[in-house]
Amino acid sequence: MHTFGYRANALVTFAVTILAVMCAMASVSDNFNTPAPTSEVKVLNINWFQKQPHGNDEVSLTLNISADLQSLFTWNTKQVFVFVAAEYATPENAFNQVSLWDGIIPTKEHAKFWIHTTNKYRFIDQGSNLRGKEFNLTLHWHVMPKTGKMFADKIVMTGYRLPEEYR
Ligand SMILES: *[C@@H]1O[C@H](CO)[C@@H](O)[C@H](O)[C@H]1NC(C)=O
Ligand SMILES: *[C@@H]1O[C@H](CO)[C@@H](O)[C@H](O)[C@H]1NC(C)=O
Repeated sequence: MHTFGYRANALVTFAVTILAVMCAMASVSDNFNTPAPTSEVKVLNINWFQKQPHGNDEVSLTLNISADLQSLFTWNTKQVFVFVAAEYATPENAFNQVSLWDGIIPTKEHAKFWIHTTNKYRFIDQGSNLRGKEFNLTLHWHVMPKTGKMFADKIVMTGYRLPEEYR
């Protein structure tokens, strides 16, 4: 006859197995979700644009960031980390990325939003390359699941340009 301890142990093992199977199914079913997020970022104002005393260019922008990331959320989504970066090329570096704003979206209900904001992080170039510079604003996201692998993607918005003169 089985002892109580043995049966309890078997029950726990069974429960853990079920849980493992459910987790595996959760992360597999996540792969069938094809999200279609949208975003638009408008530069509402160039607040100021100057050369720092030691020579690096810095610009302050007012942005209207709007996005609908609701399709990223499934029942397996814990939260989504999102950031907007200015991306541009200079003679020194083929790819420069400066994060301007970020946020954590806790639920699907918060995933459709717009925010009117100045850049939360400083937009400084490692040099004096920003006058007349064409740049992209890219909305990046990292989806943190309750179980399974994290995944990341982005929307690249093109066609932005900084003024020719400091102001
Ligand atoms: C920001 O963009 C959203 C969506 O396009 C719009 O509804 C909202 O009025 C804009 N806000 C400002 C301050 O421009
Ligand atoms: C902006 O993004 C487009 C499309 O991904 C890319 O071809 C282009 O090189 C980027 N421009 C800059 C200035 O990084």
